Amino acid sequence: MIALYIFAALIIAYFLVFSVIVAIEVPKIMDRDPAARNPLEIFLLYSGLHAVANHRIAHVFYKLKLFFIARLISQTSRAITGIEIHPGAKIGKGFFIDHGMGVVIGETTVIGDNCTIYQNVTLGGTGKDKGKRHPTIGNNVMIGSGAKVLGPFTVGSNSKIAANAVVLSEVPENSTCVGVPARVVRINNKKVAAELDQIHIPDPVSQEICKMHMLIDELNKKIEKLEGDKQ
Ligand SMILES: CC(C)(COP(=O)(O)OP(=O)(O)OC[C@H]1O[C@@H](n2cnc3c(N)ncnc32)[C@H](O)[C@@H]1OP(=O)(O)O)[C@@H](O)C(=O)NCCC(=O)NCCS
Repeated sequence: MIALYIFAALIIAYFLVFSVIVAIEVPKIMDRDPAARNPLEIFLLYSGLHAVANHRIAHVFYKLKLFFIARLISQTSRAITGIEIHPGAKIGKGFFIDHGMGVVIGETTVIGDNCTIYQNVTLGGTGKDKGKRHPTIGNNVMIGSGAKVLGPFTVGSNSKIAANAVVLSEVPENSTCVGVPARVVRINNKKVAAELDQIHIPDPVSQEICKMHMLIDELNKKIEKLEGDKQ
């Protein structure tokens, strides 16, 4: 019976802490999500917010080296929200996961303050690294839906990663990165000039041969015409 009381007390304590963490984040999300209607809706229905609150509790257990409890919280949260955050990930203030389903954040990921990510984002490893395997994200970074950021490099503060980009290397601050593999297309809102393509340079010899073929074709046609006129 006592064990049951202790269990009930732990569950109540969990939900109290969870509610406080969620309540702190609600005004920030009101500011950032144009679809947000009222604070109660955010508090009760935003799965991204719930996943982050669960993560903050799981991370405390992770730091206390209570890895099983940490993982239990993160996997239960994943089952409910569809968002998997490894309890080892370090996440700054004001982190907002919009929509959320399919998000995966790896163990050695570090995320700065006031970042936003959308559904199906992966902050993962390539499988080639040991130790620090996952990215470090600066402050005020936005990562669009479906983007994958893979490897132990840094995404600079105030950068934007486009929807569905696959980022495999360092991203400078204040930049926009798009495509697969991702490339920087804007820095400080200015277009980055495309680099000279050193590989697909036209071959001058084949160009000359091509010109000669055209000339021969033209001459052949003229000869055929002259022979036709003679007959
Ligand atoms: C990248 C993004 C943030 C715009 O950033 P920006 O700095 O304003 O960049 P721009 O819109 O000026 O686009 C820069 C270039 O990248 C291209 N681009 C933009 N988004 C792209 C994408 N997802 N994939 C490929 N190219 C993209 C633009 O066409 C433009 O090309 P150009 O230089 O040839 O004109 C935005 O397009 C984006 O992808 N946001 C994600 C939002 C999201 O995930 N929403 C989900 C809501 S449910």
